[in-house]
Amino acid sequence: MNIILIGPPGAGKGTQAKRLVVERGMVQLSTGDLLRDAKASGSDMGVKVAEVMARGELVTDEIVIGLIAEKLDELQGAGAIFDGFPRTLAQADALQELLSERGEQIDHVIELRVDDAALVSRITGRFSCASCGEVYHDTTRPTRVDGVCDVCGSTEFVRRADDTEDALRARLMSYYKQTSPLLGYYHAKDRLNVVDAMGEMDAVSQAIETVLDA
Ligand code: AP5
Repeated sequence: MNIILIGPPGAGKGTQAKRLVVERGMVQLSTGDLLRDAKASGSDMGVKVAEVMARGELVTDEIVIGLIAEKLDELQGAGAIFDGFPRTLAQADALQELLSERGEQIDHVIELRVDDAALVSRITGRFSCASCGEVYHDTTRPTRVDGVCDVCGSTEFVRRADDTEDALRARLMSYYKQTSPLLGYYHAKDRLNVVDAMGEMDAVSQAIETVLDA
């Protein structure tokens, strides 16, 4: 089964994707993570995308489609959770083509719906373990022991360069201008499911499980 998680920055796509990896053995394909890896590697492409990401704008379709195409070759039959991809109609068409070449399709598109007002505190409160990448939040998901990662015990944490109120405004604008048209696109394909993502993380996970089991 291949699914897409779609929603504005801070909707909980990454949080829910990681839970599905554990619960269902699916593979998370996050273009945001792939781009941050490229940035950390210092490659030419990484340097090129870093500024675009910090501004909260979208990286070119060509780059992200290329990243996803490479990853699809490594999947070997495991179901994929597309997290933050596709984000434009061109990316959606490319994904359909890449999957159909492999005899596969998108089974469910899940829109995580959150009020814009909630996104500011979700984004500005987010931090991650510098070692294993586990994602936390200052108030809704702090570490169990202050300053120590629950998963790997590291004491080093990072905050994303684009997790500022200014960058969030630009990211939201990109979402509404370039990504939200995909909701109509997948509704027309009878793939769209809406999940209320304003609730507790467990309640959101449960709602997603209900869609996947239907
Ligand atoms: P990307 O990394 O994909 O960022 P995003 O879409 O802005 O989404 P986020 O990762 O910020 O949020 P999320 O929905 O995953 O929320 P999370 O679960 O972490 O993209 C970054 C940039 O890369 C883009 O701006 C663009 O430049 C580029 N890019 C990426 N993909 C691209 C593409 N396809 N095309 C072009 N450019 C691309 O949760 C957020 C916080 O809230 C966490 O602290 C979490 O603990 C907390 N939280 C989660 N759920 C809940 C809940 N139910 N209740 C309370 N708190 C919660």
